[in-house]
Amino acid sequence: MAIQWHSGMVLGIESMDLTHREFIDQLNAFETANDGELSARFPDIVEHTVNHFRREDEWMRRLDYAHAEAHTEEHDKVLKVMAAVARCVDKGDTRFGRILIREVAKWFHEHALTMDYMLAGFLHASGHGPAGPADVGGDALDSAGR
Ligand SMILES: [Fe+2]
Ligand SMILES: [Fe+2]
Repeated sequence: MAIQWHSGMVLGIESMDLTHREFIDQLNAFETANDGELSARFPDIVEHTVNHFRREDEWMRRLDYAHAEAHTEEHDKVLKVMAAVARCVDKGDTRFGRILIREVAKWFHEHALTMDYMLAGFLHASGHGPAGPADVGGDALDSAGR
């Protein structure tokens, strides 16, 4: 198993927790995927990760969260590596895809228990728990410069 979900990862913000469980399930599903399955599923995990990070980034920016910059920087680093690896996978080189899944799983465990934990604490303290802030639609995200 690439990453084992445990109760310590529950942040009490419903949409974050759901997204994190989905992400862990996707990461783990790659463990038993053959090369064809890995290639076919790779775009899905990239898209899921983009949406996951974009939502947190948008909340942080909208609510003037003090640690937004460092948190978003971490997201951006992962997305850049994912995009580069996705190009390799698309050309049929699945080795880097497998390495990425393993490394992102390790990174995510740490990220969820530190940066996402702090963000969730802020959301609760600012009255946005457990539903989380309302999501802004795609047009609004675009006009906000994303
Ligand atoms: Fe997250
Ligand atoms: Fe995050």
